Amino acid sequence: MKNPFDRKAENLGNVTALEHVNVEIPDQGLASDFYLMGLGFTRDPYLFPGTNNMWVNVGKSQFHLPTGDPNVLRGHVGLVVPSLEELCERLGEAKKKLADTKFDCKQHNQYVEATCPWGNKFRLYSPDEKRFGKINLGIPYVEFTVPTGTAKGIARFYEEILGALTKVKGNGGGKAAHIKVGPQQELIFRETDEKLPEFDGHHLQVYVEDFGGPHKKLRKLDLITEESDRCQYRFEDIVDLDTGKVLFQIEHEIRSMTHPLYARPLVNRNPAQTNRNYIMGGDSWVYNLPDTVGPSGRVDDPLKAPKAPTIAKRRALRMQQMA
Ligand SMILES: [Fe+2]
Repeated sequence: MKNPFDRKAENLGNVTALEHVNVEIPDQGLASDFYLMGLGFTRDPYLFPGTNNMWVNVGKSQFHLPTGDPNVLRGHVGLVVPSLEELCERLGEAKKKLADTKFDCKQHNQYVEATCPWGNKFRLYSPDEKRFGKINLGIPYVEFTVPTGTAKGIARFYEEILGALTKVKGNGGGKAAHIKVGPQQELIFRETDEKLPEFDGHHLQVYVEDFGGPHKKLRKLDLITEESDRCQYRFEDIVDLDTGKVLFQIEHEIRSMTHPLYARPLVNRNPAQTNRNYIMGGDSWVYNLPDTVGPSGRVDDPLKAPKAPTIAKRRALRMQQMA
């Protein structure tokens, strides 16, 4: 039977979703001005309502921002927002509140680069279905800068230990390991010869389908740093599987898909709503673009299917047996 579909294109590998990136921040007020007012994202209304932590919803992903000494990710976070024009207007407003911080924003050809009050960098893109999938709001990738010569080993680690789908690509921006961590979501490890700062304890969280397999392998390598609970463990070191040498460090929260928070519906707001320019019913935001599974490949009449002679033969045999 002729198959009109690319079945492999829908494979996720073992890592099925990148849910959150966690960086500590020292001031919840400034963080609100940047992430909520500036970037236009939504404070999770249900969990962590106080000043000790803030969860910020971005489509179906989140930033977790506990209060503490600031963490700075070595690289940047890729974000999709509905409108770069409206984003720039909001960042212009936020700038007034963030003047005495590391806050910055610059317009580039393809994206806007925004820097948080403590130096974390974000690249904000318009929706681009081919590159980022069917979303107008979300976290399609997190990119880390890693030492020269480590991309291949990092990809191998994710493939063999976590069961992720990986690719190593070499382009103008340096060789990079691309790790699939969800539908149209990636961790990217891009090589640089620049000196990298020490790892400061920030983390990211992913869901995996095979939860026990990677755990067994990580334990064997003595890499587990926390047995958090029934549905979560953590590790930090990404190592060369031949030599054991640490290639890069980033804390991973590995959660099973049976975790109670898996696929939790996240509240997203329409940042254009104001009390002076209000649309009734327009408070919430739909972050997905229409997604079609394409034309149906079904054949209604089985006798018209390519294997019809077989079906007809089987039917004839059955009739014979019944006679
Ligand atoms: Fe976390």
